[in-house]
Amino acid sequence: MIVEHLMELSKETLIKIDEVIPKYPEKRSAALMVIHLVQDELGSISDESCSWIADKLSLQPINIKELITFYPMLRETPWGKTHVRVCRTLPCALRGSYGTCKILEDKLGVKEGYVRDDGEYSIEFMECLADCGEGPVVMVGEHTYENIEGKNAEKFAKLLLDKELNSSKEFNSYEETLVVAPPVSKRTNKKS
Ligand code: FES
Repeated sequence: MIVEHLMELSKETLIKIDEVIPKYPEKRSAALMVIHLVQDELGSISDESCSWIADKLSLQPINIKELITFYPMLRETPWGKTHVRVCRTLPCALRGSYGTCKILEDKLGVKEGYVRDDGEYSIEFMECLADCGEGPVVMVGEHTYENIEGKNAEKFAKLLLDKELNSSKEFNSYEETLVVAPPVSKRTNKKS
């Protein structure tokens, strides 16, 4: 029987879950996809969510729990309101990401791997964030910032703390730089 009280999931997410399950030959194969959809909305997979997903896929809660505890990107408790990820893999480490992480820890008042007591910030010092040529790489939520080190990292942390990072001209995320104005079409006066 489906656990009742997970009805806090939005209708959109419930629809996505119902659409994704039949795409797999066996229900259990959809487990990771369903877990991601639930986590995307709720921020983590609680015991209740775990039981709900297990019921939905005709599995036992332990089958879901073992996935959540195996994959580092899956969480049993939510991160902070603003979640900061710092890359610690070799190319970024060689360019100073350990120092960057320390600066962010000091300024934001939270150790990596933890959520600040007021729930505002959390930091994760983690493996490659897939932008290895421009390290140290820091992600704030879904936005990727490059070359964050030394004095730059201090400025970055201050803007983040003052909630001014988004409006800052100094730091543009990789994703923002992808949004460019469409090219202006040139008119030609060629006669046909
Ligand atoms: S090594 Fe840091 S983004 Fe890949």
